Amino acid sequence: MPMDRGARRLVALVGSVGAVLLGFYCFLGYRSYLWSPLWVIHPTTADLPDPPIASLTPSQERGRRAYLEMRCVLCHGPQGRGGVSNANADPGGMIPALRGVASAYTPDDLKYRIRNGSHPVPLDDKKPDPPIAMPGWERLLSDQKLDDIISYLGTLPKEHVVQRP
Ligand code: HEC
Repeated sequence: MPMDRGARRLVALVGSVGAVLLGFYCFLGYRSYLWSPLWVIHPTTADLPDPPIASLTPSQERGRRAYLEMRCVLCHGPQGRGGVSNANADPGGMIPALRGVASAYTPDDLKYRIRNGSHPVPLDDKKPDPPIAMPGWERLLSDQKLDDIISYLGTLPKEHVVQRP
């Protein structure tokens, strides 16, 4: 039996609502993929030739390598010296340096911050939000690596924080 006009319209309507919803969910999936650190960060030290530092303990040295491999260095600077700007971020329109974090926070606080990530607070509410956030590393760092990174952060001296030019 051929469908009457009403039935055909109903099928067309349900089909197009379905297509729009499917398109929307694909868009959301694509967007979260683009924004995830998994997409941007390919752990490697291939392009970062650097010999081990003899004075570090094995855990500190593993943490130093992980700091390079996981690209913490791109945002927080070599040896946690900072120097990367992040417009309208508190403090100072910069991504924070990591010198001194080991004494400012307990190891558990640091773990929490690194695992969960955060969005910087804007300096001025009327200006656009700071473009760069701290990614959450929950799925990317084993407990061992996180402990190593934290012991490495403890070796960084407090001085030599790069100021905004
Ligand atoms: C894409 C850039 C980016 C990368 C990569 C990144 N961070 Fe961050 N990180 C930030 C930003 C931005 C903040 C400031 C967040 C805020 O103000 O809430 C931050 C904050 C922090 C803080 C807190 C500092 C403080 O003074 O409160 C720690 C600790 C930290 N990051 C460690 C790390 C470690 C370890 C890695 C590598 C595993 C890493 N970050 C990788 C951007 C990054």
